[in-house]
Amino acid sequence: MKNKLIIANWKMNLDNQKTVDLTADLLKRWQEENVSNLEIVVCPSFIALKSVAQQLVKHQLKLGAQDCFWEASGAYTGEISPLELKNIGCDYVIVGHSERRTYCREDDQIVNQKVRAALRHNLAPIICIGETFEERQAGNKDFVIMQQVEKAVQEVKLNLEQRLVIAYEPVWVIGSGQAVSPDEAEHTNQVIRQVLLDAFPLSVIEERIYLIYGGSVNPENIKSFMSQKTIEGALVGTASLSGETFWQLIKSV
Ligand code: PGA
Repeated sequence: MKNKLIIANWKMNLDNQKTVDLTADLLKRWQEENVSNLEIVVCPSFIALKSVAQQLVKHQLKLGAQDCFWEASGAYTGEISPLELKNIGCDYVIVGHSERRTYCREDDQIVNQKVRAALRHNLAPIICIGETFEERQAGNKDFVIMQQVEKAVQEVKLNLEQRLVIAYEPVWVIGSGQAVSPDEAEHTNQVIRQVLLDAFPLSVIEERIYLIYGGSVNPENIKSFMSQKTIEGALVGTASLSGETFWQLIKSV
């Protein structure tokens, strides 16, 4: 049985010191009240990764980055190598977050290149998938989701050490304070699962692919998402920026 996966995406919200303080706060809470059957991942900004990696040594909290490039090294000014992320202590990397798709024009092909690069270096990609409000209004939601998933996992094979996470994040609810209904998230996960069944053996999906939900998850609504059949975790933005709120959310799982 898989552990539930709770991932904190701190985005560009915290400076180095605030990131270190928040990590210390979470570690203290973890030591006081150990929670079982959960894997907790924190994704600080790149400049704080090294400090947080040092804090997490010998702790069970896992480290993730918010993006990576698709090559391991070379003349790629300003980019971040997945190999270096692994070397620094990351186990996860977020790929194709809607904010990157919007502001940095990342498309499905770039997302696929990043997914494969992450896996080559044994980082588990957290692939973000989601429709915009306009796509939803036009009745194209399921089609958009199916296309994104299909393209993201093209030519991807998972060996026994590799894992993959797909986060359904409706773009229009991210940061809005208003999540979609758990039933709708469950329906979308079923659609995603159907696409995955064409790409991977069932045993791989069951053992090494996680389907999670993200978009305005908070301590009050987390339980209703986690009680859905196919939802195996959450990607949390705003509610992960306060140690107290994030810990309440974790305890509600
Ligand atoms: P949110 O962000 O929880 O603030 O909606 C989620 C995300 O962007 O991953």
